[in-house]
Amino acid sequence: MIIKSQEEEQGIKEAAKLVSKTLAYLAQLIQPGVTGDKLDKAAFEFITDHGAIPAFKGYRGYPASICLSLDHEVVHGIPTRDKVIKENMLVSVDVGVVLNGFVGDCAYTFVVGDDIDPIKLAVAETTYEALKRGISQAIAGNRIGDIGFAIEDYVEGERGFYVVRDLVGHGVGKALHEDPQVPNYGKRGQGKRLKEGLVIAIEPMVNAGTRSVNVLPDRWTIITADKSPSAHYEHMVIVRKGKPEVITTFDEIEKNFPAPFRKVSQN
Ligand code: MF3
Ligand code: CO
Repeated sequence: MIIKSQEEEQGIKEAAKLVSKTLAYLAQLIQPGVTGDKLDKAAFEFITDHGAIPAFKGYRGYPASICLSLDHEVVHGIPTRDKVIKENMLVSVDVGVVLNGFVGDCAYTFVVGDDIDPIKLAVAETTYEALKRGISQAIAGNRIGDIGFAIEDYVEGERGFYVVRDLVGHGVGKALHEDPQVPNYGKRGQGKRLKEGLVIAIEPMVNAGTRSVNVLPDRWTIITADKSPSAHYEHMVIVRKGKPEVITTFDEIEKNFPAPFRKVSQN
């Protein structure tokens, strides 16, 4: 676990700001008919125009600047030309940037259209609230398990949906994935102790029908085993005494929406 210097913390915050701006920019482009490669190109240009590089491109051979995961795709969907956004889709966009050597990483699930499957809406709402619950536990002195417990207890205990266990949140800073791992499930009071200044990415993935997932033959796209819908939100958070500091923001995304996470089509 790397605790950052003041200077490093500043650099990470700049990267977090840029990745939030990138996601808000992409949010404006999301509508029925838009293809994955169009969003990916827009992301690449936005990121490089702002003096940064895409963090995901080339990471373990990942071929794009964003992940675009639709409906039953959980995460790591590849934004290809034949991937088309449609009405009533859950559209998860995950972006990473490297700015001056520091990583920003953030994700949001949009709900497209005005006639939305109530299950999809509920999964998105649940995941959004789960992220908030997880963040609330990112306090110095707490343990990693407190974050996971808060998420799991809400999603599975209160809402009756399923937390994905095969993928986890992570420390973040100079590298995209640093220690510690931040699972979205766990036991209160267990796991590593959280220290003031630790920077983590909390990213719950919630499925409607099962916690089990599969990988597509493209070797990246994670889908729900039962093809039920799935959502994913991600924030970067600095562990503080008393109150966590969230350094990515959804504010710019949400000021353009009639409701949180809902993207109503223009036409
Ligand atoms: N937010 C995701 C993560 O932190 C995105 C990684 S996509 C990858 O794991 F291509 F970079 F792997
Ligand atoms: Co991440």
